[in-house]
Amino acid sequence: MDELIRKNQELSAILHISRVLTSSFDLEKNLHSVMEFLAGQLEMQHGCVFLLDRISRELRIVAAYGLTQGEIERGKYRIGEGIVGRVIETGQPMFVPNIGDEPKFLNRTDSRPRKSGISFLCHPIGLDGHIMGVISVDRIYNEVRGNVDDDLRVLTIVASFIAQFVTLWEHHQRTEQECGHLRSQLRDRFDLSNIIGDSPAFQQVLKLVRKVAATDTTVLLLGESGTGKELIAQTLHYKSRRSKASFVAVNMAALPENLIEAELFGVEKGSFTGATARRVGRFESAHEGTIFLDEIGELPLNLQVKLLRVLQERRFERIGSSESVSVNVRIIAATNRNLLEEVKKGNFREDLYWRLNVVPIELPPLRDRPEDIPVLLDFYVNKFNLMYNRHVRFDPTAVEQLTAYGWPGNVRELANSVERLVIMAEKDVIDGGELPFRMALTASKPVPIVNEPVPRDVKLGDEIERLERNHIVRALKEHGGIQQQASRVLGLTPRQLGYRIKKYGIDPREI
Ligand SMILES: Nc1ncnc2c1ncn2[C@@H]1O[C@H](COP(=O)(O)OP(=O)(O)OP(=O)(O)O)[C@@H](O)[C@H]1O
Ligand SMILES: [Mg+2]
Repeated sequence: MDELIRKNQELSAILHISRVLTSSFDLEKNLHSVMEFLAGQLEMQHGCVFLLDRISRELRIVAAYGLTQGEIERGKYRIGEGIVGRVIETGQPMFVPNIGDEPKFLNRTDSRPRKSGISFLCHPIGLDGHIMGVISVDRIYNEVRGNVDDDLRVLTIVASFIAQFVTLWEHHQRTEQECGHLRSQLRDRFDLSNIIGDSPAFQQVLKLVRKVAATDTTVLLLGESGTGKELIAQTLHYKSRRSKASFVAVNMAALPENLIEAELFGVEKGSFTGATARRVGRFESAHEGTIFLDEIGELPLNLQVKLLRVLQERRFERIGSSESVSVNVRIIAATNRNLLEEVKKGNFREDLYWRLNVVPIELPPLRDRPEDIPVLLDFYVNKFNLMYNRHVRFDPTAVEQLTAYGWPGNVRELANSVERLVIMAEKDVIDGGELPFRMALTASKPVPIVNEPVPRDVKLGDEIERLERNHIVRALKEHGGIQQQASRVLGLTPRQLGYRIKKYGIDPREI
């Protein structure tokens, strides 16, 4: 009977300790609670958890019961030193029946004036053969109270719990550290000082960005490809009080239409889609942070309704669930389409448009602000010089030509071109004559369709792509560049056509 009661107590004690260790990630607090609790259970005089310091290779007390702060600070051992040091060296538990009779017992904490009669139990803390510390207990045994085997068994279990907790804790520390490091890198990267543009038009944009960054307003970013919509979206996030939470970007054009809903709102386990695990949607991942809905103009009409509700109520349901999830997210959307035009054509809901259009920020294309081009060239030449360890610069004729160029791909094209030029430059000074632009411009002209014989070494896939591109360019030309009409004759959905225009880099000016 006694045995049964004792076993029961042992089990409850173990359960309690496992709860304490999973209650938080506070190493010292959790271990201290464990020792306090063990003290009551094992009637111990003292108890300590020692962990091995990775750098000094010294064991130091992380949590103790029955010791003063001074005693804790004195309790340091090297590997192999004293009983504690011996246990870590051998990885084997040790029992000293009477510390008064044991010369190896160093009593370094100086906390045991009356040594005689006290026993000492010491158990390694380890996981997968890696010993990271030691747990020790002092107690007094007599005929009626205490049994060394029982105590050792409890210590073995507690030590293994502690080992798992410490391993998790170390992981957690490392991840937190890395996250903090990355976050500060991101904050630097999206600092306003890295957004370049002196023109009045661009300064107007920056003024607006500064004004709305700190607020929670929905922002709609408008502008051609490569004008900096995503850059501004990220800057808005990292400048806001949400910067510690996630910035989650979802590109509506990059996702197949039938997957957008699951991606945005998540899927409940066991839903009709046959999901075997719950999948968290992007809205949930962005909780407390910012969600960036890129290419919002590509959102299918049926999902526009669902999004409208999220904008109004900040709640939605996962696919296959009737329970609604509520989120706290800031919404930033972007598009390179004329959304009002899309509303007129019936492709975009008007109510959604007005909900998104709270603060529109229009990013002007580079051709409307040529005065920004020299500063951008300067910024990117410095950046790539640093990256590739070069000392390239543009002479005034090159700057002049580059400023006169139309940059259909805007800042993205400019950045890529400068990178290429820095890498390829044979001399440190690039002059106008060395610029490959005449060449670049011819390359982007449509290839005329002729029945030329196909060379033997051309791959079929490449040839099909070339044909496809030509057909698309021709259809667009025939329909005055109106994608809706061109897609119909091509037998493509507007979405498929949009994707191909991007894929083949078809420039509106070709048409
Ligand atoms: N004002 C700027 N100063 C410095 N770099 C910029 C600026 N604007 C854009 N960039 C850079 O140009 C590149 C393209 O910008 P971004 O991806 O934000 O464009 P986008 O408008 O989202 O284009 P798309 O519509 O094609 O997705 C990025 O590398 C970005 O850092
Ligand atoms: Mg973008």
